[in-house]
Amino acid sequence: MTDGAGDTLTIRTTVNGSSVSIEVDPSEPLAHTLRSRLGLTGTKVSCDVQACGACTVLVEGLPRSACTFLTYEARNRDVLTVEGISPSDGVLHPLQQAFIDANAFQCGFCTSGMLVSAYALLTSESEADDEGLIEYMSGNICRCTGYLPIVSAILATRTALKTRHASGRR
Ligand code: FES
Ligand code: FES
Repeated sequence: MTDGAGDTLTIRTTVNGSSVSIEVDPSEPLAHTLRSRLGLTGTKVSCDVQACGACTVLVEGLPRSACTFLTYEARNRDVLTVEGISPSDGVLHPLQQAFIDANAFQCGFCTSGMLVSAYALLTSESEADDEGLIEYMSGNICRCTGYLPIVSAILATRTALKTRHASGRR
């Protein structure tokens, strides 16, 4: 609904499990809303044209480029950012720990998007093999690490999560 003043819209969305009501310009990118208005600066903006994956967030569980995805499109939907991956404050998700263990980043600018994309794959029902996993991650560009540590971290997490699942732990 428009509020009459400056053609803003009041929408409701869920971000990292919390319901949010926010006034937005219909053309406002989700990355701007997350970073500048909700203080969720984990989402990075690099190319700003949906080409690098740095700004990846999940909307209804699917990876989206927050630099071009409009906040308006996220109304009444669930949004997950890198901040929402951690199971609780101060506790890293195994994927985050694996990135640290494998030295899977240098500048870290791509890391949020990498984590969110990999999280989407690892928590889906996908049975992607190693090549499929690499293909899935191909939309996320890193200029620093040469990708091998990143792939190693994701593969290690997949193994750890399977072991954890087999032992009945979540
Ligand atoms: S900043 Fe959005 S895809 Fe590059
Ligand atoms: S760690 Fe620098 S761009 Fe990936």
